[in-house]
Parts: sequence; structure tokens; C-alpha cells
Amino acid sequence: VGSSEKPPVNRAKFATNLGVLAATLGSAVGLGNIWKFPYLTGSNGGAAFLLVYIICMLLIGIPVMVSELTLGRAARSNAIATMQKLSPARQPWWLIGAAGVLAAFLIMAFYSEVAAWVFAYIFKAIQGGILSTDPEVTKSAFNGLVGNPTQSLIWQWIDLAVVGFIILLGVNKGIESATKKLMPILLGLLILVGIRSITLPGAGQGLTFLFQPDFTKLTAASFLIAMGLAFFKLSVGMGTMITYGSYFRDDQDIPGTAFRVAFSDLAVSLLAGIAIFPAVFAFGYQPNAGPSLLFLTIPSVFASMPLGNIFMVIFFILTAIASIGAQISLVEVPVAFLEEKFHLSRQKASIITVLSIVLVGSLAALSNSTLADVKLFGMTFFDLFDYTTSNILLPLGGLFIAIFISWIWGYKKLSAALSNNGQLSNQGIIKVFYGTLLVVTPVLVTIVLLNGLKIIQ
Ligand code: PFF
Repeated sequence: VGSSEKPPVNRAKFATNLGVLAATLGSAVGLGNIWKFPYLTGSNGGAAFLLVYIICMLLIGIPVMVSELTLGRAARSNAIATMQKLSPARQPWWLIGAAGVLAAFLIMAFYSEVAAWVFAYIFKAIQGGILSTDPEVTKSAFNGLVGNPTQSLIWQWIDLAVVGFIILLGVNKGIESATKKLMPILLGLLILVGIRSITLPGAGQGLTFLFQPDFTKLTAASFLIAMGLAFFKLSVGMGTMITYGSYFRDDQDIPGTAFRVAFSDLAVSLLAGIAIFPAVFAFGYQPNAGPSLLFLTIPSVFASMPLGNIFMVIFFILTAIASIGAQISLVEVPVAFLEEKFHLSRQKASIITVLSIVLVGSLAALSNSTLADVKLFGMTFFDLFDYTTSNILLPLGGLFIAIFISWIWGYKKLSAALSNNGQLSNQGIIKVFYGTLLVVTPVLVTIVLLNGLKIIQ
């Protein structure tokens, strides 16, 4: 797969159009929907934040996704080589790809730890100790886990071993088959949990929180966080979708795929929000609990459901699987790079990548125990990796990708690529994308970034 000895046309490709959709969706849907979206929405005031997030998804996330898929398919290479191939000589656009490889490592460092908590919760659920509607019980279960350095590390290693093994199997077999089958089951279960949650006494307050905007709650920082979430959610701004686009077929409708992925992804996030926020208010949790929100509230919803413990085991298994789809796409960025740049075998590239993540990841894993007091810019390593990747690295990557494809690559090539050389009659859509990428996306990202980081006031 993807070795540079082969001519580019022989790169592995996704076998079917459904496979493409499933794999791309498999990268987008993950802990971002079930863990991060609820915790950020809860910490930033609810519905108004949701609205800003959706606007960022439309004006920034989807256009950048289309750009990345297009560039990757045009070059059929990893993120760095793609930018090298497509940019004019001696211009350093490959730095976007390099920043992406860095972002992939830093995201994996904390993401694998959240996945670790999910794995641990599968076993806690099987043992039966966390099923409770009492906030004190669920809090002490969560704090017991994250405060224990050995457990934090071991579960992270288990997660990384699983991810490493799947990535060794290669593109088609590993990614396509796993995601295609399991996504619908997760969706069904989320709907079930959502129904239970909105029928809890006092649930209405949670729905108001999620759907009735109060714009006084928005700050410059929350705009930045909403934009960061839009990048993180759609896996864009760091070359993941360049790498995935490199496996796309020539007849794949890229804008159509991007829309379908983005809206399905939004649906999963909203379902997670509907499952969580009514329960937050019904049981007396705080919506701004932060990264622990999912792990505190979900056990309480299951505790108020017949057969709750069995459903909770299934819920965490499916969440773990969703997280693995996303992690595979993250790890794929450095793996594809190492393979092609240094002519390493897939096996070697995967092992080097996973071992490096084990090292950096331990900083995040120990952030609630051994390293809890070590802070940079007032944040633990976990928070620092989480904050800087979504809110700085990905927006910068997205900004330059948008500028590159519209200003440097140009309308002619973009239009040929998005219409599959005239095979699709989507000229209107192409013009809208071009205009957005040329002006709207770069201007918005710049303003939100500078304002959110308090560089302009
Ligand atoms: N989009 C994934 C999620 O929301 O869980 C996270 C992610 C995957 C971010 C891949 C970035 C990426 F390249």
C-alpha cells in the first residue's frame, strides 16, 4: 500500500463508493461526537455555541474538507508529498503537511487516552460498579480511573495496540469493513439512549440548553473553540483528508461526499447531545463539567433504563469502535508519510508511529495523576494538546489549504477536479466552493483565530 516504489496509479483505492463514504465518515465520527462535542457545548453555554459551530462547519469545515480530498486525489500521495507535488517550485507549501504530521501525533496523544477511558468503562460496566444516578458515585468512579497512573497508561497501551494492529492490515480490509458494519448500530443505540434521556423528569431544561440560543453566553474564546471543533470534527486542517483523498476513486463525487459526511456527522453529534444534556439537568450534573461530562452522565441514563447495564456495555464497545475508526485515520497520516518518504515498509512505519505515540501519549495519560501539577500556559499536557491542536494547528492548516487551492492551484484545476473532468454537471456548486475558499474561509479563519487568541480586540 502506498509504497513509493510503485507508480502512483497503483496506490490502494477504496473499492466502492459506499466504502469511500463509510471510511471518510469513519474518520469524522468518533470521540469528537460523543465526548468532545457535548463537553464543549456544555462548557460554552449550549445552543448559541451549537449555532456558531454549524456556521463554521458550513463556511469553513466543508470547504476545507473538499479542498483536502481534491488535493489528495490529484496527487495520490501523503500530505507532505501532495503539497510538494502540487505547489510551484521552491514554495514551502509542504509545511502544511509537516504541521499535519505534528498535529496527528499531538491529537493521538490525548485522543488515545480518552479512548483508554472508554475501554476501561467497558470493563467497569461489565463488572457493574458504575451504574448509578448519584453524581457522587459516577464522579468517584471516573476520578478513580483518571487519577490512577497505572490504569491510565495500560488502557492507553491496549487502545494503541488495537489501532496499530488494524493499521498493519492495510487500507481496504481494515478501515472499510469495520466502519461500514458498526456505524448503524451505534446510531440506533444513541437514538435509544436519547429517547430515555428526554423522557426523564426535568429533561426539558436540557433540551432548552441545547436548542434555545442565549447569545450573551458567546465570547471571542467560544468562537475560536467552535471553529476548532469544526476542524476537529471533520478531521480537516492537518492532511487526514488529503491522505484519504489519495485513496479516492476518480469517479467519486467529492462535494457530494463531503456534504453527506458533514451532515451525518452533525446528526451523530446532535444525538449525543440529546442523550447527554437532558440527563445533566435531570440528575443534577453541571453542563460545564469538562472532559469528564460523558463519563459522568451516561452511566446515570443507563441506570434509569431496563437492562441498562447490558446496553451500557454495548454503548461503550461501539464508542470504542468509533474511536478506532478515527484513530486509524489519524495514525495513517504519519504512517503514509514515513512509508513514502523513507521507503519504509508499512509494518515498520506503523510500529515507529505507534511507539512514538506511546511516548508522547504518556504525558497526556498522566495529566490527571502523576503530572497533574505540571502546567504549560496554565494547562496540563492533556488540555494543552487538546487546545492547541483544535484551536491553533488545525485552523492554520485549514487557512493555508484554502488559500493554496483557490489562489495558487486556481479555478481551472479546481473546477476540473471537482467535476471529475466534466463528468459531473455541478458548475454552480463549484463556483460557490471556489468563492468561499478564495475569500470567506480565509477571512473568517483569520478573524476568529486572531480574535480568539486575543491578538486583535
Ligand atoms: N474527527 C474525529 C472525531 O471527531 O472524533 C477526530 C479526528 C480524526 C480529528 C482524524 C482529526 C483527524 F485527522
